[in-house]
Amino acid sequence: MHVSDVGSNVGKEVELRGWVYRKRSSGSIFFIVLRDSTGIIQMSAKKGVTADESWKAVGDANIEASIIVNGTVKEEKRAPTGFELEIKTMKLVGNAEPYPITEYQSPELLLDNRHLWLRSRKMTDIMRFRAMVFKYFRDYFFENQFWEVTPPLITKAGGESGADMFALDYFGEKAYLTQSSQLYLEVEISALEKVYCLVPSYRAEKSRTIKHLAEYWHLEVEAAYYSNKDNMDLQEDLLSYLCGKIVKEQTPLLESLGVDKKRLEAIKPPFKRLTYSQALEELNKKGVKKEWLDDLGVEDERMLTAEEKKPMFIYKWPLKIKSFYMRADPDDPEFALNSDLQAPQGHGEIIGGSERIWDYNELKSRIKEMGLSEKNYEWYTDLRKYGSVPHSGFGLGTERVIKWLLDLDHIRDAIPFPRMINRIYP
Ligand code: 4AD
Ligand code: MG
Repeated sequence: MHVSDVGSNVGKEVELRGWVYRKRSSGSIFFIVLRDSTGIIQMSAKKGVTADESWKAVGDANIEASIIVNGTVKEEKRAPTGFELEIKTMKLVGNAEPYPITEYQSPELLLDNRHLWLRSRKMTDIMRFRAMVFKYFRDYFFENQFWEVTPPLITKAGGESGADMFALDYFGEKAYLTQSSQLYLEVEISALEKVYCLVPSYRAEKSRTIKHLAEYWHLEVEAAYYSNKDNMDLQEDLLSYLCGKIVKEQTPLLESLGVDKKRLEAIKPPFKRLTYSQALEELNKKGVKKEWLDDLGVEDERMLTAEEKKPMFIYKWPLKIKSFYMRADPDDPEFALNSDLQAPQGHGEIIGGSERIWDYNELKSRIKEMGLSEKNYEWYTDLRKYGSVPHSGFGLGTERVIKWLLDLDHIRDAIPFPRMINRIYP
């Protein structure tokens, strides 16, 4: 049985398997709080109730020891969850040495001990939340006829600016860890029409910010015959679906994590849509000097979204500062048919997406213009020779979305083992 089922078994004898979360003694009684993947419960060991053979295990068990306990469930108003287990027998499975993590530790110590800190209540909740977010994404795409595909993570060429790639030796040839699976998804749409993947992307950016990881889980989506407008509507619908599911099914987890449910209930279409020019104007109004063709930094995004309650699109960026594959607006060729989606309350960019160039000659000349290797992209330009179609897609940083949904201070807590410029252990 799990801790979450204890409440419906008052008066019965149950067996729990878990770990010692807290322990104290008061006179001749021991109180042990057991935790498992579903929660915590207080247990008491008393002479006369607890079997004599178990008494040594009760005394010896240290914080984080693994234990198997049999006992009777009682209602107990003074216990943190309202229930208590009276221990009849307890088996010490694996005892623990003195635990290196105590209350009030520095973030650095907790990161050094990440392999142990992941057992904390907070990290357990976040990891369960993360698993549910992944599930809801997959549910959404399954319900909407998108196929999940699995692109390669080792590649010859990047989808984004080549400068931020991790290089590796591939049997004597230079290769890279992927920055984005987009180009491979574009291959798949000619067969499957609507596809997505949920795999890592790698960025060797030397950014020390609260929203950059060197390895992150990238949800990427690509769809044939989708315009940039369809693409934006899809992003809006996906995030509204996600928040709806979380609110409906994950209220206890939100409460445990101290997240105000109302924040997520508000996430419904339509999302505000601002052009790049309007975004610059907004920033200038707020006293931030921005020049035409300037990118938006972490601080700019924070300023722009601080007062927002819902995600906000910034679309129609100057083509010059965007990726080679983005399609120019035929009615306004200085601009790309693209958008970034900004999370509210200062969290900033969570999605980047665009319509893709689908004309062979247009793509060839963009690749040349940007000084990219034509040879490495030959297979990609090839796609435009054999039944090319208009199409669009986007990439969503799952950790950035989790950081926003849970209002975390730093992206590192949205992933179990954060890879950052100064961290690769454990
Ligand atoms: O804006 P990006 O670089 O766009 C692409 O890679 C496109 N090829 C996606 C596509 O159209 N298929 O990255 C997409 C998203 C960002 O909006 C952000 O949420 C996340 O990926 N991201 C990061 N997340 C964590 N750490 C980093 N270093 C990230 N870089 C990008
Ligand atoms: Mg981007």
